[in-house]
Amino acid sequence: MQKAEEPAVEGGSRMLRKADKQVARLVYLIDELLDVTRIINGKLSIRPEELDFSDLVQEVIEDLGDPFSAAQCQIRAEIEKDVRGVWDRRGLEQVVINLLTNAAKYAPGTEVDVHVRKTNTHAQFVVRDQGIGIAREDQDKVFDRFERAATSSHVSGLGLGLYIVKQIVTMHEGSVSLESTPGRGATFRIELPLA
Ligand SMILES: Nc1ncnc2c1ncn2[C@@H]1O[C@H](COP(=O)(O)OP(=O)(O)OP(=O)(O)O)[C@@H](O)[C@H]1O
Ligand SMILES: [Mg+2]
Repeated sequence: MQKAEEPAVEGGSRMLRKADKQVARLVYLIDELLDVTRIINGKLSIRPEELDFSDLVQEVIEDLGDPFSAAQCQIRAEIEKDVRGVWDRRGLEQVVINLLTNAAKYAPGTEVDVHVRKTNTHAQFVVRDQGIGIAREDQDKVFDRFERAATSSHVSGLGLGLYIVKQIVTMHEGSVSLESTPGRGATFRIELPLA
């Protein structure tokens, strides 16, 4: 009796895990759409507060453990301590999540390098992956709304993550840049003013 029930229980918990993941994905999509609606209506506001960007990045990396292990991606993080400034916590979490989930989506099975550093004037956040990369002619447009590179049609997405990244970083008077060679990965670099 006991034995016959076990597979059903196991199957049940697998289904629950799957349902959990689907709910998480839907919540992510809804959040993205809400952010974009707010941006379009000029209603996305930032609430700057004193925060430690080094801790924030570390926490997001820990939270994204599951998608990263599902993508068989390994994060190599070099995080300088005490990179502090006055920024919007939720916004910067979104920036870090969007860039890291892109690395997991477009560079599965590879090592992803993440750096946090500070210069005299700026906090720097760099994500370097070794995935499919982005063709030169697509490198500007991927930051636009609903734009995706042709090479990523096999991966699901709305084409909003980088648009949101750029909007949030711009609201902080920071900058985003991208370097990529197709087939050799992509490097995204964010700079945020410290003061
Ligand atoms: N690390 C990366 N490597 C290769 N291509 C990438 C990478 N990050 C983004 N891209 C390309 O840029 C496009 C836009 O990225 P963006 O994050 O805005 O949207 P998405 O990942 O397609 O969907 P979502 O709205 O769920 O984030 C992607 O569709 C993909 O073509
Ligand atoms: Mg994305």
